[in-house]
Amino acid sequence: PVRRITAPQIAARKGGEPIVSLTSYHAHTAAIVDKHADFILVGDSLGMVMHGMETTVGVPMDLMIMHGRAVVRGTQRALIVVDMPFGSYEESPNVAFRNAATIMKETQCGAVKLEGGARMAETIHFLTQRGIPVMAHIGLTPQSSHTLGGFKTQGRDEDSWPLHIQDAKAVAEAGAFALVVEGVVEPLADQITQAVDIPTIGIGASKNCDGQILVLEDMLGLGDRPPKFVKVYGNLGAEIERAVSAYAGEVRDRSFPTDDQVYKTKPPQG
Ligand code: KIV
Ligand code: NA
Repeated sequence: PVRRITAPQIAARKGGEPIVSLTSYHAHTAAIVDKHADFILVGDSLGMVMHGMETTVGVPMDLMIMHGRAVVRGTQRALIVVDMPFGSYEESPNVAFRNAATIMKETQCGAVKLEGGARMAETIHFLTQRGIPVMAHIGLTPQSSHTLGGFKTQGRDEDSWPLHIQDAKAVAEAGAFALVVEGVVEPLADQITQAVDIPTIGIGASKNCDGQILVLEDMLGLGDRPPKFVKVYGNLGAEIERAVSAYAGEVRDRSFPTDDQVYKTKPPQG
């Protein structure tokens, strides 16, 4: 059996070969990503990507657990990180531990991720001291889109940089094994990467981060037009459209099914 990559192994890659990661929400895509990625994130973006929600705020625990299980089952190599959904960790370290433990027990994932900097440091310390590896997430934190005033790039004003850098240092000191830096201007992302001794995982950040992550469906060209920071490597939306429309045409003109796709009774014996 192939041993999975662990959170400490990811942490040890600070400043080394770039860490490769993508999101995945289900078994079959995860099996493909597993061949190439160091860790796979079961992101709460699944609320928007898979379930048509407008933000991630409405994602419940049981949805994260269901998709988390599917991804763990479909993979054997990558570290699986499951997002803690909005409302499951913010109020206290105790509540966060209870819910993080439930996610780990139910999915068998290797780590959880939660959003927030200095304000979450106490909770990150509490979890990591009790056996739960935590990936932090700062900058544009989508679960706070209602207080941030939307999905806005952070750090355009240099006056805000010290606070973001403080956030990064606080989660690193609290014991986070890695840090997602999302939607910040490039020079701020570079300063964050230099300020902490844990790997930064960039998304809409900088090529100098210690790793990169994208939402799989976005980079595959499936779904809505993605934000500027996504490079689209595939054209799955168009490919699905082509296949579905070919099928519809063949059903309508009775060219599907053919003899190849139907069962015949056994020919008479003897
Ligand atoms: O939910 C998600 O997909 C994420 C990544 C974009 C980092 O948190
Ligand atoms: Na997320």
